[in-house]
Amino acid sequence: MPEYEFPYRNPALPIEQRVDDLLKRMTLEEKVDQLMQITIGADTNPNNLGSGHSFRPTIGSVLSYCGGTRNRNAFQRLAVEETRLGIPIIWGFDVIHGWRTAFPIPLAQACSWNPDIVEAGCRVAARESYAEGVDWTFSPMLDVPHDPRWGRVMEGYGEDPLAAGIFGAAAVRGYQGEDPSQPGTVAACLKHFVGYAASEAGHDYAYTDISSRTLHETYLPPFQAAVEAGAMTLMSSFNDITGTPAVANHYTLTEVLRDRWHFRGFVVSDWDGVVQLAHQGYTTNPAEMCRAALSAGNDMEMNSSAYRNIPTLIESGRLKIEVVDEAVRRVLRIKFAKGLFEHPYHEEVDPGTVSLQPKALELSRAAARASMVLLKNEKNTLPLNPDTLRSIALIGPVATDREASAGAWPAIIDPKTIPTLQEVLPSFFPKSEIHYAPGCDYTSDSTEHFAEAIAAAEKSDLVIVAIGEGAGRTGENRSYTNIALPGKQLELLRKIAAVGRPVVLLVSSGRPILYPELEPLANAILHIWECGHGAAAGCCDILTGAYNPSGRLAITFPRSVGQIPIYYNHHPRARDEKAEWGGRYFDLDDSPMYPFGYGLSYTSYEYSDLEISVEDLTAQVTLRNTGKRAGRETVFWYLSDPEAKLTQPLRRLIAFEQVDLAPGEERRLTLQLDRMHDLAYIDPTGKKVFEPGRFILTVGGEKAEFVVAE
Ligand code: NOJ
Repeated sequence: MPEYEFPYRNPALPIEQRVDDLLKRMTLEEKVDQLMQITIGADTNPNNLGSGHSFRPTIGSVLSYCGGTRNRNAFQRLAVEETRLGIPIIWGFDVIHGWRTAFPIPLAQACSWNPDIVEAGCRVAARESYAEGVDWTFSPMLDVPHDPRWGRVMEGYGEDPLAAGIFGAAAVRGYQGEDPSQPGTVAACLKHFVGYAASEAGHDYAYTDISSRTLHETYLPPFQAAVEAGAMTLMSSFNDITGTPAVANHYTLTEVLRDRWHFRGFVVSDWDGVVQLAHQGYTTNPAEMCRAALSAGNDMEMNSSAYRNIPTLIESGRLKIEVVDEAVRRVLRIKFAKGLFEHPYHEEVDPGTVSLQPKALELSRAAARASMVLLKNEKNTLPLNPDTLRSIALIGPVATDREASAGAWPAIIDPKTIPTLQEVLPSFFPKSEIHYAPGCDYTSDSTEHFAEAIAAAEKSDLVIVAIGEGAGRTGENRSYTNIALPGKQLELLRKIAAVGRPVVLLVSSGRPILYPELEPLANAILHIWECGHGAAAGCCDILTGAYNPSGRLAITFPRSVGQIPIYYNHHPRARDEKAEWGGRYFDLDDSPMYPFGYGLSYTSYEYSDLEISVEDLTAQVTLRNTGKRAGRETVFWYLSDPEAKLTQPLRRLIAFEQVDLAPGEERRLTLQLDRMHDLAYIDPTGKKVFEPGRFILTVGGEKAEFVVAE
């Protein structure tokens, strides 16, 4: 048995015993440092305002990519070997959709409806980022948006709380692995807790007015699912929740998160989240900010300054030492669970031997093609036949843009390593002549290069127009009132459509964009999002039919900004919303442009014979591939509860699954319903309530009503 100087150093002891032992040896100053996070070196988020700190080895956490493991280890050595207690630092960084291997932005990944894709991508990101010194990623984002003007829609998993929870849990499994204490894993951080997506009018960092009901019904469930999956940390959000800012919100941070969900990890604030309490009109006194946040349950301060006031607060009796101890306990618990005491240093390897490996790039391509959504395919324009197409015009700024594929929030992803459509297309169409012309850029008013693009279209059998938002238009602090494509891109498409060749439109974006004017100008439309390294090849897999598109929208696309907020699971109106006097807009078709769950395939599916057995609460439906190609169908099961004391959404997703079917193949699918999980609703206190009565289940156009008694 090895001898340990102090019990906390002994890995054979239970974590709680190690935490207790270490805590009782710490001075107040050492405790305070564990609750502070500073930045040094490179910080790739331009919205993290400020200039960084000077390093001190007793600090709890550093937000930084230090330029590699060697630097990180050198700083870590100071903490582990040169301080009294040798507490390792936890190194946090934003790894949002890949480290060096770029995966589709999370919103796109959600459109794959495949949690395995999310998990596998996060696994790769964990391995790659750990190899360069990261212990902890500020991901996944589980905010549920109803407003595409808010630029951060790209970073989450769409508008459905159940889906966000399922993908969030998959991300946690991917980042943390089966044993988060092992090298090669990173701790996940669920953000932003909670309700940030409700930011008024799509402004970033804005006030949120959230009823208790919406908080529990919409915003909290994804976090609960990911906490249950074992997430080690959460980040409190920037928003002021109905008068009590999230960073100082005892109800969400303690009563819900700790008391009800039994979360045992720690909560970090967002960047300056504590000192921003002044802007929010909560308090201008830094000591009071510190007291409010810490006693609400916000353990660590990101970009720390207010938490310096802890000693003064303790001295004056305004803060109890027990509150500080509990926060430190949570931070230490995660440091032990993360294995930092056993593996404080990361192995110094050449990142090139870990990152951008063939398997990871293949995974990115698989994720990309599964995430893209086919929105239109008039007269089977797609797939294209590489044997018969003599010439293709490739037009538009996306065709050569590596940054658009890298996607919003690329952190250290190097766009130079990302292949473009222009580079990749020829290998998929070796017999076709390819005429490339950009036509225009994303934002300028110049039509100078239209003529070349028109000429390219004129000499080709078919035109692929690749346009989009362009890099940097979505993400943090990227709110837009106009979500149509910028610049002269629509005008370019008009001119190209007028040439009269079949037009395949590829649209890249990080948010829903406005399609009404684009749609009539193209024969086929593939929404390609921002899909990372595999974007171009994944797109070509779909264009050639090597992959049958299976993506379905995880977020509603409106016809007009005037329809926002727009989302599928809204509550019923007092009058039938389809009727003339149902409160519709008089100047617009009220339906979404493309609804949640929408997406076409090269084959067709038929649902039939939905049956429900009330005795054992099972539902069955037959799904048949009625087309000529094999395909992957996402089956969405929706529940409606048309009569309830607390009125319910028109429908809500209660389950989804993916089924692979050969042409002509048929499967009988079964869904086991659970009273409390599927039929009960969540009341404004967060309690699940089952009301006996009438329910309606819908799946793929099939509908069945059933009654469940007490
Ligand atoms: C602000 C963002 O809101 C948050 O998501 C991010 O993790 C931190 N800054 C750190 O970059």
